[in-house]
Amino acid sequence: MEPLAGKRLILGVTGSIAAYKAAYLLRELTRLGAEVTVCLTEHARQFVGPLTFRTLSGRPVLSDLFDPRGEEAVEHVALAERAHAIVVAPATAHVLAKAAHGLADDFLSTLLLAARGPLLFAPAMDGGMWEHPAVRANVDTLRARGVIVLEPDAGALASGLAGKGRLPEVEHIVEAVRRLLAPVADLAGEHLLISAGPTREPIDPVRYVSNRSSGKMGYAIATAALRRGAAVVLVSGPTAISPPPGAVFVPVQSAEDMREAILQHLGEATIVIKAAAVADYRPAHPSPAKIRSGQERLSIDLSPNPDILKEVAARRGSAFVVGFAAETGDVAAHAVAKLRDKGIDLLVANDVSREGIGFDADDNEVLLVDRWGGTEPLARRPKSMIADAILDRVLALRAHAQTTRAR
Ligand code: PMT
Repeated sequence: MEPLAGKRLILGVTGSIAAYKAAYLLRELTRLGAEVTVCLTEHARQFVGPLTFRTLSGRPVLSDLFDPRGEEAVEHVALAERAHAIVVAPATAHVLAKAAHGLADDFLSTLLLAARGPLLFAPAMDGGMWEHPAVRANVDTLRARGVIVLEPDAGALASGLAGKGRLPEVEHIVEAVRRLLAPVADLAGEHLLISAGPTREPIDPVRYVSNRSSGKMGYAIATAALRRGAAVVLVSGPTAISPPPGAVFVPVQSAEDMREAILQHLGEATIVIKAAAVADYRPAHPSPAKIRSGQERLSIDLSPNPDILKEVAARRGSAFVVGFAAETGDVAAHAVAKLRDKGIDLLVANDVSREGIGFDADDNEVLLVDRWGGTEPLARRPKSMIADAILDRVLALRAHAQTTRAR
């Protein structure tokens, strides 16, 4: 059976040069069996006409709330209420702002307010708009409400500039819709203990040693695990992102704090995933007072931090333990060595010397290496998708280990 058979979707298309890609998205969604009704904003119609969408969907296209046939407009709101989901692609900064603030001045924004099902936005915008504080705030507001806002892709933009703002690949949007509409509860009953972000090791009361981890990778795993039905404890160093709703959030600063929090929650964990970038060293003698400037030379003695992952592996009980490895050079060889050294079940290695993946990036590309000798490369994709693939792998490996033990 087609994976989206019987699913009623509304595809909102807003005024962006990427509007033509919505036709490809529509074709793919209908190919997977969804019944898709398209709603075009007035600006979207300047880019692609309704005939294209009518032909591909086989349904009338919605576009004008103030249609003189007023009854139809009311009927269409009922359509929004019955829809399993509304997908807005491309979503401009303008429609994100309207949705965040609850404005309803055209057909699409009205449908967004009338919807009872989940909402998914696939943004596309130009220049530095995606990074603008107003857009960031609107995206945060929507995400805090449980709305899915995908990360736009980086690359050449319509203006000729390069940056982040391209519509995510159609296949990624389709994958996100599939996950949204067919939520799997394959982690129900599991307790995930996840670490994310950097640690900060104080030099004095105002300075610290740290690294570039944004927390995005660990938070993406926590988000995916929650969606798949797990209970999640997220132990995180300082980041600029909000923890996913539903997680037990334990903010920490230093590696020592992180160790303490992890060991405190280890008892109930069935799966431990350590995506945090723990500082390997800390200043041996942090100064209680601010170190004065003007000294000709200043040396800071560093001492090693405890290896939390190794300790977790040694005290894991029956928990499945996953570590990450930030590598450069021969990633595969280093990954195998690190997996053995740490004594864990699965290692997720990323090449942190590469642009666009790893630290503070929205995408990742990783190599999964497991203790049964298996390896699986995951090609570059958004961290949300890497997160689901890691969780899939954990479940498959654990099932494999249980069957092998039972024999
Ligand atoms: O946070 P993002 O910006 O999204 O970036 C993601 C990431 C690059 C941080 C992530 O994908 C990643 O690679 N995390 C591990 C980074 C790291 O510290 O790697 P490592 O090779 O130094 O450590 C190996 C493993 O041991 C890690 O699971 C780490 O959490 C753990 N460790 C390391 C040192 C230590 N003292 N205690 C530990 O538990």
